[in-house]
Amino acid sequence: MKTEVVRVDPLRPEPDVIARAVRILTAGGLVVLPTETVYGLGAAADDAASVARIFEAKGRPAYNPLIVHVANVRAARDLASRWPESAERITHHAWPGPLTVVVPRNRAKVPDVVTAGGDTVALRMPDHPVALALLSALGRPIAAPSANRFQALSPTTAAHVLKNLDGHVELILDAGPCDRGIESTVVDCTGEVPVVLRHGAYSLATLRRLAGGLQSAHEPNENDAAALRSPGLLRLHYAPNARLVIARPETLAHALREAGERRALVTHRASTANFAPAEVCTLPSDPEGYGAALYATLHRLDDAGVHTIVVEAVPDDEAWSAIRDRLARASG
Ligand code: TXA
Ligand code: MG
Repeated sequence: MKTEVVRVDPLRPEPDVIARAVRILTAGGLVVLPTETVYGLGAAADDAASVARIFEAKGRPAYNPLIVHVANVRAARDLASRWPESAERITHHAWPGPLTVVVPRNRAKVPDVVTAGGDTVALRMPDHPVALALLSALGRPIAAPSANRFQALSPTTAAHVLKNLDGHVELILDAGPCDRGIESTVVDCTGEVPVVLRHGAYSLATLRRLAGGLQSAHEPNENDAAALRSPGLLRLHYAPNARLVIARPETLAHALREAGERRALVTHRASTANFAPAEVCTLPSDPEGYGAALYATLHRLDDAGVHTIVVEAVPDDEAWSAIRDRLARASG
């Protein structure tokens, strides 16, 4: 299959480009679309055969359910068999945005293949003009995991997508780099108190306030039922090809010595950047800026053939939790 990459204006998507993507999705094809978090690998969510092609293209095991993207809250409610009060409160404020709610599934509207046969469905209204234009022009929900091979690093540019999926999708809509650069926060709204299943780009402090209380899923292992419910919780996910090592300031020099020739250092502190005897990538010192740059930096170091990436540990506070989570997983 030939994969076409088409540029699209990120703010005012050209109607003819959107129409082309709609034709492909309607015919059962796959379209990679930009979102504010990462690029998604999309298929019409109500078309089981198209959704099955997503799993093939990604090499993703069938037990890992997909996020369904919707144009508005009304479309989301239509895919749920029950719309919990917490989902209403949260989505009312957080959508469009990098926040995914897990709710009871409407079996008549969401095929088994989307949810791995489960009783719940993950829903999100993305905050990106291109994604929203495509969703409303299609008039159907779009199932879309991150547009990378299973367990690889998520893509924040069309070039990252091509590295993984060239020849596996019909069309890539290239709207430039994603603003947030970290996947959405996933929150399970099916129980009494909402439970965070995946830390992500949406602020936990805000989510806690909206939800009026919040539980954190424990860190499961591969045999854990909770992990199988939400495999994004599995360790060694979101990993670059290079070995990734996290080091505190006091062990940084040692880690760099141990790292060998083809090493690089990723830090958020100018003071570290000045002394380090290695190629240095200095990322912004705020969590939003750091998150937006992180995957692109790891992709670039991979492409440059770096063998070991030493990352200086990021701050311990909650605002950095999604970044700490991704770094920990990438370091295995
Ligand atoms: O930002 C994002 O969320 C991106 C963009 C494209 O929207 N999508 C994304 O999808 O990261 P994916 O498939 O790479 O990750 C979806 C996560 C996985 O951890 C999956 O296990 C979890 O959501 N998930 C999906 N459906 C679920 C469900 N019904 N119950 C629990 N977890 C679910
Ligand atoms: Mg993913």
